[in-house]
Amino acid sequence: MSTPAPARWALPRARRPLLAQALGMAIDPEGFFAACAAKRGDPFVVTLPSVGEVLVSGHPDGARELFSLDGDQVEPLEVNPVEPLLGSHSLLLLSGKRHRRERRLMTPPFHGDRMRTYGAIIRDRTLELARSWRPGQRIVAQTAMRAVTLDVILRAVLGVEGDARSERFRAGIAEMLDAYTPPLLIVPALRRSLGPFGPWARFARAREAICALFLAEIGERRRESRTDRVDILSLLMAARYDDGGGLSDAELVDELRTLVVGGHDTTTTALSWALFHVHRDPAVLERLRAEVRALRDSPGGLTPEALAELPFLGAVCNESLRLHPVVPIVPRRARRALTFRGQPVSVGQNVAVATTLLHTNPEVWGDAHRFDPDRFLGRKYSPFEYAPFGGGARRCIGAAFGSFQMRVVLGSLVDAMPLTLVNRKSPARVLMNITMGPREAIELDVGRVASRGSARPARA
Ligand code: HEM
Repeated sequence: MSTPAPARWALPRARRPLLAQALGMAIDPEGFFAACAAKRGDPFVVTLPSVGEVLVSGHPDGARELFSLDGDQVEPLEVNPVEPLLGSHSLLLLSGKRHRRERRLMTPPFHGDRMRTYGAIIRDRTLELARSWRPGQRIVAQTAMRAVTLDVILRAVLGVEGDARSERFRAGIAEMLDAYTPPLLIVPALRRSLGPFGPWARFARAREAICALFLAEIGERRRESRTDRVDILSLLMAARYDDGGGLSDAELVDELRTLVVGGHDTTTTALSWALFHVHRDPAVLERLRAEVRALRDSPGGLTPEALAELPFLGAVCNESLRLHPVVPIVPRRARRALTFRGQPVSVGQNVAVATTLLHTNPEVWGDAHRFDPDRFLGRKYSPFEYAPFGGGARRCIGAAFGSFQMRVVLGSLVDAMPLTLVNRKSPARVLMNITMGPREAIELDVGRVASRGSARPARA
């Protein structure tokens, strides 16, 4: 039986060559989508190397349609730029029944009540880092936040405690991410070996090294008789499908890469933006400090769980993710013929929601480009108006963990350490690894801690 021809979308196309579109998307995804929507309306079509045409919407109706599609109707893109980093067994890349099955297996470690286990780790690691800074020292938000989030995710996922072991994982992950340079991300043709010294060879070596480390960890766990481990790897190794089977070593390795890379790179970027905005606006900083201070002086004290419940701190984190969704586009590939924003979509064609457009849609957000946490205090937004964690059957499984971590890190830090932003100009956004982040370093100067000594460990 011959495959039917793909639907032809009666929409104006960009006149820019393919590579120019890819570069536009990589160098300034937010500006690129805004320009497409301004010129061509909603939805519009973009063409990306090796992905092909994508029908993109930034409207809540588009998000409602896309997030309502189930796993039998849509799947991940056929050629996904994150595949080299995360592996073909990654939950992010699975489709249909296999995706549903594996997602069910991987979700329990991220349930709300397990957050308590991670809270103390997150707060202690943040305070440890803050105490290592000296007055007058200049720190880079991205580096500082990566140090915390990578450490936290390694402890939560692998339970690695020994310094030498966690250092090997930290260095391996950092090398793999550094080696996956923007040209490799954007141009799939470059993802092949051009001898032992090319960029792809460097990335392949780094990837092999980190996979070997994960595999050794899994092997050790399979041999040991300990039953008291509560880390996510142990839960995944013990988890069983309905038929009694579990994840193979190769699947576990890819899921570990997914959780460690996806779980810290996103949170690092989100926290870096939050630190920028909080320290850019003295009124926001003072309000936040006052809220955290009041909690510290309350009978229950500054526990991670109580921090995560603070309304203004939560609003600051939500607003930061609205203005800077770290994943600028949430795409799907059709497995069945469907309609998206009034356009017919054939099997194999791609549709997407641009979160940068969704989060600045003037029908929902007034003065959309202003950082204004108060908009989250007076009102709730639907999952089709606000979607920093994507939506529907593939919504981020680490959303609760990521949100919780953002609140605990930011709340602990503003209470522990006076910081001053070096440059108040908002950095441009650029696509890096799997997220959209600030192009330049966000630098902060460390001040002197007031005699009250709030960098002391909070009451547990
Ligand atoms: C602020 C932090 C984070 C942000 C903004 C974020 C954002 C996202 C987005 C936009 C998606 C795609 C959802 C979709 O296609 O609809 C996603 C998927 C995913 N995220 Fe996150 N994420 C964050 C933290 C985490 C953490 C902490 C973990 C795990 C430790 C995690 C693990 C995953 C996984 C496994 C998927 C794939 C889900 C699936 O395909 O079923 N993320 N994330």
